[in-house]
Amino acid sequence: MRIASPVEHCHVLTTLIPSSTTLGSMTRAPKYNIMSVLAYKISKAALNMLTTQYALAYGDEGFTIFAMSPGWLQTDMGTGNADLPVEVGTKAVIEALMGAGKDANRKFINIKVAGWEENDGLNQYDGKVIPW
Ligand SMILES: NC(=O)c1ccc[n+]([C@@H]2O[C@H](COP(=O)([O-])OP(=O)(O)OC[C@H]3O[C@@H](n4cnc5c(N)ncnc54)[C@H](OP(=O)(O)O)[C@@H]3O)[C@@H](O)[C@H]2O)c1
Repeated sequence: MRIASPVEHCHVLTTLIPSSTTLGSMTRAPKYNIMSVLAYKISKAALNMLTTQYALAYGDEGFTIFAMSPGWLQTDMGTGNADLPVEVGTKAVIEALMGAGKDANRKFINIKVAGWEENDGLNQYDGKVIPW
């Protein structure tokens, strides 16, 4: 499948990581059922499929395209109740980006934050692959 995309016009960037969220994981939908942000969940599930289509279309051309969950961050959208300061999340996203090899293509990857790998609450940040 070939899809029109900005990737075709990009000659410098080789890694693309759309900003997804665990709320877009269909596998984890039961876990996040208590959060009634349906439109957001659906839009991120769609973004995950778009990411998959890009990864399939461009993975063999030297691009690495994977979905990234940046964690629940204290942005305007995330609010002050979120798990992590923005600096912690962005640092973790950059580390994941820098550490991603070609095998990251078409995956859905969580950030890794020390002390949060096995958090008891709703969210864990273990650097592992998130099920679609
Ligand atoms: N925060 C979290 O916990 C969290 C978790 C998982 C995923 N994400 C994802 O991470 C991304 C960023 O989230 P955020 O928390 O940083 O959100 P945010 O605090 O609401 O910030 C959104 C940013 O996008 C800009 N923006 C919004 N609509 C735009 C448009 N039509 N054109 C250009 N810029 C636009 C806003 O610009 P203005 O300030 O000028 O309005 C703002 O800088 C989103 O895709 C979100 O779903 C966030």
